[in-house]
Amino acid sequence: MSATESVMLLRLWNLLVAVSATSMAITIPLQLVLGYTPGSPLLAFDWMITILFAVDILVHIARPLVLQEQPSQLRTLTLNYLKGWGLVDAIATLPWYWLFGVPLLDLLRFAKLLRVAQLLHQRRRGAVQYNPIFRLSRFVFWFGLSAHWLACGWLALHTLATDKPEMTQYLHALYWCVTTLTTVGYGDVTPTTDAQKVYTMVVMVLGVGVYGYVIGNVANLLANIDLAKAHYLSTMERLTTFMKYRHIPPPLQQRVYDYYTYLWENRLGYDESAVLSELPPTLRTEVSLLLKRDFIEKVPFLKGASYELIRELALELRPVVYTPGDFIVHAGEIGRHMYFISHGTVEVIAADAKTVYGTLRDGDFFGEIALLYSQPRTASVRALDYCDLYTLDKDTFTHAISRYPEFATHMQNMAQKRREEQPPDSPNRPDTVQ
Ligand code: CMP
Repeated sequence: MSATESVMLLRLWNLLVAVSATSMAITIPLQLVLGYTPGSPLLAFDWMITILFAVDILVHIARPLVLQEQPSQLRTLTLNYLKGWGLVDAIATLPWYWLFGVPLLDLLRFAKLLRVAQLLHQRRRGAVQYNPIFRLSRFVFWFGLSAHWLACGWLALHTLATDKPEMTQYLHALYWCVTTLTTVGYGDVTPTTDAQKVYTMVVMVLGVGVYGYVIGNVANLLANIDLAKAHYLSTMERLTTFMKYRHIPPPLQQRVYDYYTYLWENRLGYDESAVLSELPPTLRTEVSLLLKRDFIEKVPFLKGASYELIRELALELRPVVYTPGDFIVHAGEIGRHMYFISHGTVEVIAADAKTVYGTLRDGDFFGEIALLYSQPRTASVRALDYCDLYTLDKDTFTHAISRYPEFATHMQNMAQKRREEQPPDSPNRPDTVQ
């Protein structure tokens, strides 16, 4: 089994354990209130969960092996688990009621909920894009569970009526609890005994906290439900105000809008370079290689290239976008970058601005002649549609030429071929430049 498959399997297992822990947190208080009736399905469920939690301890001990950790670390990892979470898991696994005959001791098994909290915490880090939805679901989860516990507490303070089904009485208690917690308080269910009155006051105070949390957070959560979109919309608003204030002509305004819309549709408006620059070097290399994998596969000469060259290019290539009609390179200007086409079409136009040397597409590159021969651009290059390009600066280009012979040979051959296609009297042809 591959490492990725093992991780997926462990995640599924953790999910199963989390669901079981939640069900246990529901059934134990119910059994405490209704009594541990022999032969009840709740009891069978209790034993099933006990077995599952016991297996979970074994899974955690075997976890380093499954994840193919270093053999030298196996002992330390197992010992760490047994001294930390292992204890929590053991407390949650033991059937306390059956061992000591004290029903309340079964509440110790709630320790497993700490695992659920840990799991939710881990999932939160992985769910950045859906963070608000995730936070909302987490709130609903804990609110639901707390309401259930408080409803069981309310039931415990009552003498259960024998003429009404247990389910109806539980629903009645839950109804009281939700109306009190949310500060709605219809007043149709009221406390009668002293204990109930004290309990109601506690729940009312808790209710104020819950209400404050809901008002303070839910509005904020809903407003940020799609952070990327909110960022895009605020950028567009700022742009509109700026362009109106500076009287930018409408056609140019349209091109600016089109550019941002393209960025939003293709990259959710994220600046790849900025995200990468915040990562530590090893992670940056890995993520860069992954992000540029599709592009690297399109460039024919990189297919057989060494890993070092590909890694260096992946780290140094910077993404840029040009809109249709943009001049990317002007004949005669000084060249500081060369360009690789990730997606799009460009046309190469001679210095006379009439002759078209050809069109270049995905996987092609241009702008190498000026860097190779340290001379002005020999032609202009114009974007024919939206072009996703990667630029390579002159220093990295020169370094790659001196370090990787395959890169140097390919660049020189291509430059040579392109030069030969240019007319002999072309103003910036390398052999005509003094
Ligand atoms: P450079 O001179 O730096 O800038 C213009 C680029 O156009 C040039 O590098 C080449 O990459 C490219 N180019 C020049 N001539 C041709 C051609 N005949 N066919 C394709 N591309 C060309």
